[in-house]
Amino acid sequence: MSPRPASEIPGLRPIPFVGRHLGLLRLFRDPLRVLPRLWREHGEIAALSRGDPSIVCAFGPAFHQQLLPRAKEFEHLDDIPMRVPEGSALSRTLFNLTVINGADHRRQRRLMMPAFGRSVIHGYRDDMVELAGSRLARWRTGSQVDANREMTELTLDVMMRCLFGLSPGEDAAEVGRLGTSFLEHMTSPATAMLPLDLPWLPFGRFMRLCERFEERLIEMIEQRRASRDQAQDVLSLLIRAADEDGSRLTDRELLGNMGLLFVAGHETTAHALSWTLFLLAQHPQIQLELREELRGELHGDAPTVEQFARLPLLDAIVDESLRLLPPTYVLFIRRAMGEFELGPYRMPEGSLVVLSPLVAHHLPEVFEEPERFRPERWASRKPSPFELVPFGAGPRLCLGASFAAQEIRLVLAMIVQRHGLRMLPGSRVDPKARGITMGPRGGLPIELVDPDARPRPPVDVGGSIREWVQW
Ligand code: HEM
Repeated sequence: MSPRPASEIPGLRPIPFVGRHLGLLRLFRDPLRVLPRLWREHGEIAALSRGDPSIVCAFGPAFHQQLLPRAKEFEHLDDIPMRVPEGSALSRTLFNLTVINGADHRRQRRLMMPAFGRSVIHGYRDDMVELAGSRLARWRTGSQVDANREMTELTLDVMMRCLFGLSPGEDAAEVGRLGTSFLEHMTSPATAMLPLDLPWLPFGRFMRLCERFEERLIEMIEQRRASRDQAQDVLSLLIRAADEDGSRLTDRELLGNMGLLFVAGHETTAHALSWTLFLLAQHPQIQLELREELRGELHGDAPTVEQFARLPLLDAIVDESLRLLPPTYVLFIRRAMGEFELGPYRMPEGSLVVLSPLVAHHLPEVFEEPERFRPERWASRKPSPFELVPFGAGPRLCLGASFAAQEIRLVLAMIVQRHGLRMLPGSRVDPKARGITMGPRGGLPIELVDPDARPRPPVDVGGSIREWVQW
């Protein structure tokens, strides 16, 4: 059968005179509604504007497999849906791995990879345990914690220590706030609509925020440069990194990529941890089984890196949580460098394709009972790298995936051995997209209960979480 024209792709009602950038903003205005709606109403291939193939969503492992490994044919979208004034702090902080393609991307990634190698990450284990330990020392049985806030502060402390070699404090909190607002502004229609650098407009405020973010990054880079020790934080490793031909990351590349690592690694990991704590709180039996596995192997301590291999339920729980509630609900967008076929359609060069782990992880034809938290599904089945894609796949697979995996497992193992987790009766949980990450709106209050008490049934939690998880 010959391919059908791309103009036949079903999708949302077109809005006249809306260009491509605004089309993308239509998605980011309410992605957690738009993406499932596109899938439910139009199936595995759907356009953001009916009849217009310039931005389409493609849901499912077959599309991940088609696009993600072929970086030459499907480039990473290298502009953001917003005006970037030349010579601005925004243009400099944006100059990082995610906005380059081809040989440039390969070179920068090659220089950055060793800082995320196995032994380096294992070397961060003690720092992670120490930082988590001092935070958890403040948690008391019988009290309530905002798990999302706690996890955000913890992952921020970890980032500051492992990326920049800095200790927690006010400074770290400020950089955290700057990084978070940076990401939020970048995908905000309010910032993009009127891109005039005026103090009373969101765009003007974003420009000042970028200047402050850049200043703080430069200060941290200079502090690291000034110290002459052979420190093992990511920044020090990147400053020293050299290719076989002696090429190094330029100052501009260092700045952009440190900003990226910070932004990409902090909130994502915090949300992954928060969602897992929520799922455990709502599944008391699984929580109990995990505690038994952990205590049996660890006797109250945090795992060593060798012990991870002997904690299969912990592994399965993290995979299942990343499947159900992936912190990055979309992958960065791909642009087709030539004509290609997408399912039955012939697509024109330049089309943008949006892939969504969130929707793909809930496809009933791929995952039985997709809305159920069933870690045991991973005992009998290993996912293909294109089915379970919380970290993406192919040459742009998340650079910090092993870093995040280690941090998540360590922190969970420490929490679950010390505390029972329970949601508060009558609470609401609403997933909220900020930038490209998805966390709980307004925090996640969790009650810390006696870990040795008999498990009680889950409480009735309301909110839009029920669209994604059933218990
Ligand atoms: C649970 C935590 C995390 C999740 C879910 C996550 C997810 C992702 C995803 C889905 C992508 C990109 C995919 C694409 O375009 O195909 C990505 C890219 C990236 N992530 Fe992560 N990430 C996490 C933690 C981290 C951490 C801790 C770091 C660094 C410390 C990090 C650094 C990066 C970088 C540098 C890229 C860009 C790679 C490239 O374009 O070559 N991420 N991440």
